[in-house]
Amino acid sequence: MNVRNITFALAAALSIAACTPKSGMDKYIDDLLSRMTLEQKIGQLNLHSAPGFISAEKVTEEDENAKLLRQGLLGGIYGSGDPELLRQCQEIALSSGAGIPLIFGMDVIHGHETVFPVPLALSTSWNPELVERMARISAKEAAATGINWVFSPMVDICRDARWGRIVEGGGEDPYLGGELAKAYIHGYQGYDDKYDTDEVLACVKHYALYGAALAGRDYNSVFLSRQEAMNGYMDPYKAAAEAGAASYMSSFNEFEGIPASMNEWLMDDVLRKAWGFGGFIVSDATAIAEEVNHGIGDLQEVSARSLQAGLDMDMNSDGYIGTLKKSLEKGRITEADIDRACRRILEAKYKLGLFEDPFRYFSKDRYAAEVYSEENRAAAREMARECQVLLKNNGILPLPASARVAVVGPLAKNAMAMTGTWALSSRRNESITLWQGISEVVDASYAEGSWLFKDAHLEENVRYGLYKAFVPGFQIPPIHPVSQEAMIAEAVAKARRSDVVIACVGEVPNLNGEGSSRVDISLPDAQQELLKALKATGKPVVMVLVTGRPLTLVWEDKAMDAILNVWSPGTEGGHAVADVLFGKANPSAKLTTTFPRSVGQLPLYYNHKNTGRPHPDTADYKKFVSCYIDEINAPLYPFGYGLSYTSFTYSDLRLSASEMPMDGSVTASVTVTNTGSCAGDEIVQLYIHDIYATSTRPVKELKGFQKVHIAAGQSVQVDFTLTAEDLSFYNHDLEWVCEPGDFEIMIGSSSRDVQGTTLRVQ
Ligand code: NOJ
Repeated sequence: MNVRNITFALAAALSIAACTPKSGMDKYIDDLLSRMTLEQKIGQLNLHSAPGFISAEKVTEEDENAKLLRQGLLGGIYGSGDPELLRQCQEIALSSGAGIPLIFGMDVIHGHETVFPVPLALSTSWNPELVERMARISAKEAAATGINWVFSPMVDICRDARWGRIVEGGGEDPYLGGELAKAYIHGYQGYDDKYDTDEVLACVKHYALYGAALAGRDYNSVFLSRQEAMNGYMDPYKAAAEAGAASYMSSFNEFEGIPASMNEWLMDDVLRKAWGFGGFIVSDATAIAEEVNHGIGDLQEVSARSLQAGLDMDMNSDGYIGTLKKSLEKGRITEADIDRACRRILEAKYKLGLFEDPFRYFSKDRYAAEVYSEENRAAAREMARECQVLLKNNGILPLPASARVAVVGPLAKNAMAMTGTWALSSRRNESITLWQGISEVVDASYAEGSWLFKDAHLEENVRYGLYKAFVPGFQIPPIHPVSQEAMIAEAVAKARRSDVVIACVGEVPNLNGEGSSRVDISLPDAQQELLKALKATGKPVVMVLVTGRPLTLVWEDKAMDAILNVWSPGTEGGHAVADVLFGKANPSAKLTTTFPRSVGQLPLYYNHKNTGRPHPDTADYKKFVSCYIDEINAPLYPFGYGLSYTSFTYSDLRLSASEMPMDGSVTASVTVTNTGSCAGDEIVQLYIHDIYATSTRPVKELKGFQKVHIAAGQSVQVDFTLTAEDLSFYNHDLEWVCEPGDFEIMIGSSSRDVQGTTLRVQ
């Protein structure tokens, strides 16, 4: 059925719904709307960031938001985790205008006060239950402070590691992204649309295709065909809608020449009509006003178009409160357009129970008992253990607790590097550092070892860019106060007096995340210099990599004895990393993004097309085939890759039948054996390849995965059931089809290491 047909099917279902008696909610909102003035309705469509977003000031008489609140011109506030401030705002809202309670949003992305690994790291667990548990705890913590709407999950598929926001998503694969999206939604919202006081509305972002920003430059244009968008990017947004996501945030980018925040095809045709989404859509911050820069029209025009395209709430542009009334007077929009958007926002408030008790989300008791509790921090530690990817190990890991260790590197004592990006409400400076975690286990010495970057200007921007953007008059502390030579000399001396060096290097949070795109994704130069000096000592070097994106690590892969990619592991990061380094936990995470060999290979992703002139991944250069003169096609570490302290072999791949009727199913099975000496978890991956189709298809597509625990020396059989649904795709006419013919079915330990067999579908 193509998107148009789905639309018709849904329209039929809706007309049945229209004949059914009105629910209590509908009656309540009909009544409310009939009593609201036009200004009050438009006010509901307005969302502002909280006063004191950075400085934590309280609401004051002069505060712009407080003035709007008194006039009933705000539907919600976001960006504050301060219960007192939120309570004050709610009181003002209730005593003004139509007395409608505010909704309180917040960027709770990977935890609230207790912080979990960054989302990209969470995805490398390939464990939807872990993600759901993380979201559940985040919801509980956020809800206890009065927040009832979180701006998560971010489900943008990204194939280009230059984009700083790759850290906020679930990687490059739409199937895995979809499984994780559902887990986030259920964790935040529960399983129905009645919210307990520890459940909050999720906001799926950024709708849509924001992760396909050209050249990885944030906010850049997106050029994709509808077919490529539907096949390669849209699954997670769809899965979230099917899981009952309550709201979506429109993205900054354009698609097909129309900014996403006024893109009717994306918001209305696909999200609402084809997928049946019934909640509300909020713009990203100032996205409506930015449509003026996109070159569509003045604020009045872009606001009218956004509303009509299905965008309900305006975040921070003041386009709706500033212009919709005028547009209505001029006949550019109708009152029904405003009512429709207002109704959707009121419905969300109704479902949250705010009309019954606007303060139901505030609880000092729950705050004291549940926020940043020992239990939550223990969960953060447990999860962080499961989100570390062992990229290389020549046998040195795990380290014995008797080792004399030199802990060096500018990220060793950096709590923020553990906390990671987008952790606005976190106790960011309390996160357990790598140094703390390691030195609790072994006899260790410490040296900072190097600057972040040799270029002082770059270092200044990375360290203080955020303050420079937000804090007027911010005084920048001296950059590079101690010479790089002196720092390296100290580290080398400490390395020489130890058995092993743990080098803690990588990206500080401001080097990834929003507005942090990079053209060079290698390890920062000053830190590379440190690694080279450490290597020259002849001591074994274990590199603990803190990062929010894939980096190019060709030299490091050759030179280091082990590389453990810990991402930004959260509140309990240092402990969890030490657990893995010293063998208390066996690493099991696998990459969800390809690590290129060179930035010039980007975008690089495992589920690419074959081209008419394919060239084997590791083969040397050849003229007139699809390759580079100066680099092989292969990535350094492929999608799905990650090592363990034990080893696994795959054997006996088999299908329950070699042919499958369109309406049938087959089981693909494989035996996985733990051939090492300790128990371990293995993420078993199933890929398909549609050999001939009416449109070109990727060389591999993930369609199933299972994480299995296997004791040393034991084998397990892993089964996957396949139906035509798993073999379907959007064809050139955007019809969702499974075409008869042969499919390769592959199972293995990564997208690079698979065994395959053929299935005929008829
Ligand atoms: C802009 C970001 O793109 C979005 O992810 C975030 O939720 C909003 N700002 C609100 O902070």
